[in-house]
Amino acid sequence: MVKIDLPDLVEELLAGPRPLPIVAAGDPVLRRRTLPVEGQLGSEQLNRLITAMRETMHAAPGVGLAAPQVGIPLQIAVVEDPADVSPEVREVRGRVPLPFRVLINPTYEPASDQRIAFFEGCLSVPGWQAVVVRHARVRLRGLDEKGQVLDEEVAGWPARIVQHETDHLGGTLYIDRAETRSFSSAAAVAERWNQPAPDAAAQALDFRLPSRLPGQD
Ligand code: NI
Repeated sequence: MVKIDLPDLVEELLAGPRPLPIVAAGDPVLRRRTLPVEGQLGSEQLNRLITAMRETMHAAPGVGLAAPQVGIPLQIAVVEDPADVSPEVREVRGRVPLPFRVLINPTYEPASDQRIAFFEGCLSVPGWQAVVVRHARVRLRGLDEKGQVLDEEVAGWPARIVQHETDHLGGTLYIDRAETRSFSSAAAVAERWNQPAPDAAAQALDFRLPSRLPGQD
């Protein structure tokens, strides 16, 4: 295995265009396990990388960006969601605002048995969306950019975002977990499947949703 000089790789990236170019599916960097952050980058360089990732996420626009999506094989992700959606979507999807966060070496585990399904997309798979069944609530652990310990439960849309971004750091894309029959172009989602929940899409495209227990709606 070729040893990567991470500070050089990051410096080369930061010397290039802004927003940073986003790597698309098919690039092996999205499929490799990333390295835990353990002092490979100095704090000043780490902060410059985080700033550039945040700018890139805003420019896309997106609600999360993982370091491999800009070609850096380290366990770093940024998340931020202004949740500029209708009250109905907010209610059904639990899409509440998520303030800017940096996740370093994150992991998650389910914090409830409930699983919920919604359309989601990825900046590395532009132009497409699919329904992904995810844990409704997770326990998120890791560090922030200052090295402070994160250990908290996350629910609603923010739980979906942290699962999606943490998955990136393990070489997993949302398409690996998607209901493949739900795979839809962004135009089809906008025209047909923009309801708050994917029930109509499940019926018309013939894919299964997790069963809802009474009282969970
Ligand atoms: Ni993604």
